[in-house]
Amino acid sequence: MSLPKINPTTTTAWKNLESHYKEMKYVHMKDLFSKDNKRADKFTIKWEDFYVDYSKNRISEDTLEFLLKLAEEVKLKEAIQSQFSGETINQTEGRAVLHTALRASKTDEFKVDGINVMPEVYQVKQKIEGFTNEVVTGKRKGFTGKVFTDVVNIGIGGSDLGPAMVVDSLQFYKNHLTTHFVSNVDGDHVNEVIKKLDPETTLFVIVSKTFTTQETLSNANTIKEWFLHSANQEAIAKHFVAVSTNIEKVKGFGIDENNIFPMWDWVGGRFSLWSAVGLTISLAVGYNNFDSLLKGANKMDMHFKNEDFNTNIPVILALISVWYNNFFKAESEAIIPYSQYLNQFATYLQQGIMESNGKSVDRNGKAIDYQTGTIIWGEPGTNSQHAFFQLIHQGTKLIPADFIGFTKSLHGNQDHQDKLTSNFLAQTEALLNGKTKEEVVAEGTNDNIIPFKIFQGNKPTNTIFINKLTPESLGKLIAMYEHKIFVQGIIWNIFSYDQFGVELGKQLANKILHEFNSDAVNKHDSSTSNLLSYYKSKS
Ligand code: F6P
Repeated sequence: MSLPKINPTTTTAWKNLESHYKEMKYVHMKDLFSKDNKRADKFTIKWEDFYVDYSKNRISEDTLEFLLKLAEEVKLKEAIQSQFSGETINQTEGRAVLHTALRASKTDEFKVDGINVMPEVYQVKQKIEGFTNEVVTGKRKGFTGKVFTDVVNIGIGGSDLGPAMVVDSLQFYKNHLTTHFVSNVDGDHVNEVIKKLDPETTLFVIVSKTFTTQETLSNANTIKEWFLHSANQEAIAKHFVAVSTNIEKVKGFGIDENNIFPMWDWVGGRFSLWSAVGLTISLAVGYNNFDSLLKGANKMDMHFKNEDFNTNIPVILALISVWYNNFFKAESEAIIPYSQYLNQFATYLQQGIMESNGKSVDRNGKAIDYQTGTIIWGEPGTNSQHAFFQLIHQGTKLIPADFIGFTKSLHGNQDHQDKLTSNFLAQTEALLNGKTKEEVVAEGTNDNIIPFKIFQGNKPTNTIFINKLTPESLGKLIAMYEHKIFVQGIIWNIFSYDQFGVELGKQLANKILHEFNSDAVNKHDSSTSNLLSYYKSKS
């Protein structure tokens, strides 16, 4: 069984949406609210500790009906079933897509090629738990008998962004271990991190699904070399562990077999923080918190899998996003968390969303003539209010935005929390209503300034209000976006789980690297040739 291969633009729902858009583009949300005092209740989903209000969107009940019909016509329900049942839905790489198995209960069954993967998943979880406890309690020690104080995660892309974002987001729950992340092949990155380390008390976690990634191997080798200035070869077994599918390559690097945490090819890199790729998360916040993160994601999985589409959070958010992307032709979406802890959240989602759905060939192998993946960007509020909000409020571009907030703060400073939340609520209200000429005049504004102070409003937002930032609620939030990615990939008729687009640059970089040290020069365009010679003359 494979995924359905339906061009969304050929569906009846799409055609209805096209004509419906012609009416809706002139409708102001303000009018929709004033005509229907139940609008907010109608367009809000309350689930567990999540309150998702999507009423501040340029949609009517008809819009929603057409969008839900679209989901039906592209066979979303069947596609969800295919994903959860371990079918080879990553067809271009010949793999199942089962990050959901990583957070499922021990008694659940997830089969790949007829074999239940759950026993293996739980074996690795047990290994993560045991290892975490040994390091955190100080039972496991470095080569001179000292306890570990620092952990360095060496990885890039999905082997870095997920763990880095979660560790940062959950810093309130952190233990005494100091965590560092080395990702960029820029040697200044690794050297800045090394500066802060003591080889006797630092644990290195090398994370690479393939164990062939240039950046990760270069950084791991540089760190190993630095480490061996102070320690001998045997000490490597105490200080270096690896997470990978490529066991042979890890052994070749010199890592002890007991220190390898396996993962599987049915876990995509950008969906892998739930596997042993999250080892650094477990070390930083303790295994129980790591497990709560997984439990939260599992709850969202169950919601996504079982809930009717009209009250299904990831499905509704995905459909609304398609509405703007394909009918309003919005180019980007902003993610604005009102929590400094979620500082890295948009960066993390950029890989998840853009590496998955940045595709221009459909599941039939045909070039696409409609828009796919949205551009994702964002920063926490209130900082972003003082940076780019001007453009969202008064610029010429339509930028649908997700506002994510928490009703409770973690440190309990109510004064700050009230100020933060008042901004959180005020911004979506301002984006909805804008400010009319009459309102500007009533403020006593000078005539020549009036046009500049008018806000059109009608700028769409979703409000995702969560009780508290906990490992569990963070797990739910991340899984919510993962499922949104899936739904959009299905609608756009693309394969979301490959990433061939990142390969070409890697291949060319390898060729150019060889040219730096040889006289043989490959054929390049004149711009690249000039730049290459310039670098050779200066470096
Ligand atoms: O370059 C893209 C990519 O393949 C990502 O999809 C992946 O997360 C990252 O590189 C790192 O890959 P690996 O874990 O194999 O080192």
